[in-house]
Amino acid sequence: MTTERLQIFDTSLRDGEQAPGFSLRIDEKLRLARQLDALGVDIIEAGFPIASKDDAESVRRVAKEVRRPVIAGLARSRRADIECAGEAVEGADRSRIHTFLATSDLHLEHKLHMSREQCQEAAVDGVKLARQYTDNVQFSAEDALRTDIDFLCQVVEATISAGATTINLPDTVGYSTPDEIFDFFTTIITRVPNSDKAVFSAHCHDDLGLAVANTLAALRAGVRQVECTINGIGERAGNASLEEIVMATRVRSDRLPFATGINTEAIYETSQLLSALTGEAVQANKAIVGRNAFAHEAGIHQDGMLKDRRTYEIMKPEDVGVSQTTLVLGKHSGRHAVQNRCVELGYELSRYELDQIYQRMIRLADAQKTVGDEDLVAMIETVHTEETESESTAAGAKSA
Ligand code: KIV
Ligand code: ZN
Repeated sequence: MTTERLQIFDTSLRDGEQAPGFSLRIDEKLRLARQLDALGVDIIEAGFPIASKDDAESVRRVAKEVRRPVIAGLARSRRADIECAGEAVEGADRSRIHTFLATSDLHLEHKLHMSREQCQEAAVDGVKLARQYTDNVQFSAEDALRTDIDFLCQVVEATISAGATTINLPDTVGYSTPDEIFDFFTTIITRVPNSDKAVFSAHCHDDLGLAVANTLAALRAGVRQVECTINGIGERAGNASLEEIVMATRVRSDRLPFATGINTEAIYETSQLLSALTGEAVQANKAIVGRNAFAHEAGIHQDGMLKDRRTYEIMKPEDVGVSQTTLVLGKHSGRHAVQNRCVELGYELSRYELDQIYQRMIRLADAQKTVGDEDLVAMIETVHTEETESESTAAGAKSA
């Protein structure tokens, strides 16, 4: 099976930063952009320059100071936006202007008050203007998944002819399903006569929890750029999560034969940095980067893990930069895990001691959910003291 290279377009600094609670200062955006560079993303969408002076300035700074990735600035299909984005990204080694316009009748009638003809004309004019600043121009048809397919094919063909090198078809409201988005991209790529002149891109939102599944289905239909964010942050329920897409292609390369430029060992620190900068914790059970992603409490699982980690782990925590698997001691844990942790802490226990400690550990776990190393050491010391005392009492009784 041949492996194709995917372009990873990270929009944490734009779609992600737009979400409530995730706004960042310029210096923080720069720090995250440097980390995204170290992570190996291909394209950083650094912001929406027309949105505010600070947004424009942060895109300018990222473009100037982060040299390897392509730096993209977002713009509506309007002259002022495109000029502003063009100016903001011009210091980059490799710049991109990302123009967008909604194409669904719902958005055209109720939000933009535009006809389809006006929409197509504005989209084409926007791409042509953007091409005056850079030859790397992306056009996005906002709400593409709810757009009339014949009209969308026309817009895609016209924007490619106008010079768009990437066509992004977003599931703006996270409404699609894997089967539907597969059919959708297959139809567009097959029907648009000049589709081979552009890279197709998926940008899926997570309103139904399907963003990653939809993105992966789009890949099967010929999409070769995926738009995603660290920790899946983004508007409403967020965007497809970078770490989940990347690790899915890595762990299931038998089904998803795609390579990325991501240094997966930098995933966890990038996730932690974003969380520290925004003050928003990552949900404990979040795939790949959540605190429970490599933690096991159930006795049967812990026993399996201690015998062979492949029984309950499909990837190594080290592969994503997590230092090790955690076997959490709690009320579901078994003797095997308790014994293993005691040995790791430097204690060899007799069978009697292990029984004593195990029973105390379960009682404590009922009261405080999990049992830490300090608790365990305290229990071991108490059991040792009790044993010594009872031995000397027995010895005293004998000699008396
Ligand atoms: O969700 C969306 O449609 C977007 C576009 C601006 C690409 O974020
Ligand atoms: Zn979006």
